[in-house]
Amino acid sequence: MTNIKEKLEELEKEALKRIGGVVSVPGLETIRVKYLGRKGELTSFLRSLYKFTEAEKKVLGKKANELKSRLEEDIENKKNILLKGSVQGKIEEEWIDVTEPGIKMPLGTLHPVTKLMFEVKDIFKSMGYEIAQGLEVEDDYHSFDALNIPPEHPARDAWDTFYLTNGLLMRPHTSPVQIRVMENRKPPLRVLAPGRVYRYEAEDATHLSVFHQIEGFVVDNNVSFSDLKGTLSSVMKSIFGKDVKLRFRPSFFPFTEPSAEVDISCVMCGGNGCRSCGEDGWLEMLGAGMIHPQVFRNVGYDPEKVSGFAFGMGAERIAMLKYRIDDIREFMKADIRFLEQF
Ligand code: FA5
Repeated sequence: MTNIKEKLEELEKEALKRIGGVVSVPGLETIRVKYLGRKGELTSFLRSLYKFTEAEKKVLGKKANELKSRLEEDIENKKNILLKGSVQGKIEEEWIDVTEPGIKMPLGTLHPVTKLMFEVKDIFKSMGYEIAQGLEVEDDYHSFDALNIPPEHPARDAWDTFYLTNGLLMRPHTSPVQIRVMENRKPPLRVLAPGRVYRYEAEDATHLSVFHQIEGFVVDNNVSFSDLKGTLSSVMKSIFGKDVKLRFRPSFFPFTEPSAEVDISCVMCGGNGCRSCGEDGWLEMLGAGMIHPQVFRNVGYDPEKVSGFAFGMGAERIAMLKYRIDDIREFMKADIRFLEQF
């Protein structure tokens, strides 16, 4: 029995030495199997205890079981130490629960004016209009002369213009796109030209110095003012609903004759008058009219053969009504609390 006890002690020494020296988790597993596996040395010894007398069994069994616990404990501790430094350890340490709900990333939204312009473009596209792009930096000829506004004409004052030092200017309206398209194309034309415009103008609740217009025009045989009215009325109803009212006021634009300014009933106050509509009940939305014969001549069209209408609306003004914003300057503030509502 002394002999067996010594053997057990030797086994213990040897096993502890191996556990101490091992440098990998698989190596440690091999050691565990060698001593504690199903056919391991210590397991086999424990299985063979039945061969001993009761008294021997008591002593040897106790010793062998204590050794088993010690080895199990040492192996577990060593495993934790090895895991900390290994890839497997990193995997265990950095484990992520993929079933946990994620953190929502803040997502931007389209600017309300962009959204409105998309919507208006879609309405006109469904009516057969094509989209044209003009130039934001324009020349005098396309912005004024070709639109029947000669250099000394007082109507130029209506468009307070930013002039550049190279003789060009920042376009104060989208009407030059009419000229650019007609110069290069023949009728029939059905065109929408949305874009940014610039005016040297004081800002207030309904005026910006940089804003967007949506220009539209149709040129064909026998286009009439009632086509213009029908088109605008159906577009405004698509945007604001069928109850919206339109008001055509006689007006003057050098490039249209007759001309009109078109207001829509203020959706903010139902037409009773409020800050948004200047206490008037109506909000000016657009300028429009039948394209002037001189404009046709300027682009080489024969006004005896073709006719057309044109309009230019303020995108921010429409967005104000659509989204019920009572101060146009909100659109330019880039305040995330305002913008994320759309
Ligand atoms: C024009 O600019 C003409 N080119 C429109 C036109 C086109 C008439 C084709 C006839 C045929 P007006 O200056 O009125 O017109 O501007 C048109 C629209 O732009 C206005 O009805 C208004 O809705 C918007 N608008 C004008 N000035 C401002 C401003 N400072 N801030 C925001 N919107 C404005």
